[in-house]
Amino acid sequence: MSDAPQSPASTGPNVPQLTVPKFMALKGTGRKITMLTAYDYGLAKLLDETGVEAILVGDSMSMVVQGHSNTLPVTLDEMIYHAALVGRAVTRALTIVDMPFPSNHLGKIKAIENAGRILKETRCQAVKLEGGADQAEIIAGLTSAGIPVVAHCGLRPQNVHLLGGYKVQRDRDRLLREAREAQEAGAFCVLLECIPAELATEITGMLRVPTIGIGAGDGCDGQVLVTHDLLGLTSGYVPRFVKPYADLKSVIQNAVTHFRDDVRNGTFPGPEQQYK
Ligand code: KIV
Repeated sequence: MSDAPQSPASTGPNVPQLTVPKFMALKGTGRKITMLTAYDYGLAKLLDETGVEAILVGDSMSMVVQGHSNTLPVTLDEMIYHAALVGRAVTRALTIVDMPFPSNHLGKIKAIENAGRILKETRCQAVKLEGGADQAEIIAGLTSAGIPVVAHCGLRPQNVHLLGGYKVQRDRDRLLREAREAQEAGAFCVLLECIPAELATEITGMLRVPTIGIGAGDGCDGQVLVTHDLLGLTSGYVPRFVKPYADLKSVIQNAVTHFRDDVRNGTFPGPEQQYK
């Protein structure tokens, strides 16, 4: 088997799963990386079949699936349960699982124990944690335990109370230090959320490891979106950086309304849906 990164067309049944080294090797090849969120078997399987490079079991699940107003309530056990559904579905993409608040804030040993559970119980290959410089010791500890880490810098939604909301992060010196120290500690990828495009481009040029942006402009090595946002399934506020590629909310509501009307007027089930 060749060690070369898979081509975008490599979506056949025998494509080997993307590994961390192959993911890292995509940097500088000119091929942009695509990452999307998934929280269950069915959607993860559909995404995987498209050939996206990475699938993230994000703690956005707290809002998207569980209906909370932020990402703080979701628990490690809940993340593991959903990550196991995703891990069972994915055969090609690199699968990454968010460390939920505060599973990486209770010291290095506890973080290794928590991230270790994620890898042992889910078939996923890596974890993501919010932080850079302040998480360097944890990132180094996880990496030395063989647990690949994506660092999440810029807007850190788990800090929503400290920040007083979800705001674009503009502190250049701090963000450069965050990203550099995350890489030096062993992070194999840095996710940049809600920072000016020019700054994200500068960070991307500075780092050896790939950057994945969300609300961080077109200069990153790849892009991630919450899949529900991309599909037009999100109710309420949708951030400016989201581009909805479909309007599945309308598709679902139209189909369900049609079904409801058919049941009410007696046209479902028709003869073809009935047994003789
Ligand atoms: O939890 C999440 O969905 C994220 C986004 C940045 C993609 O971390």
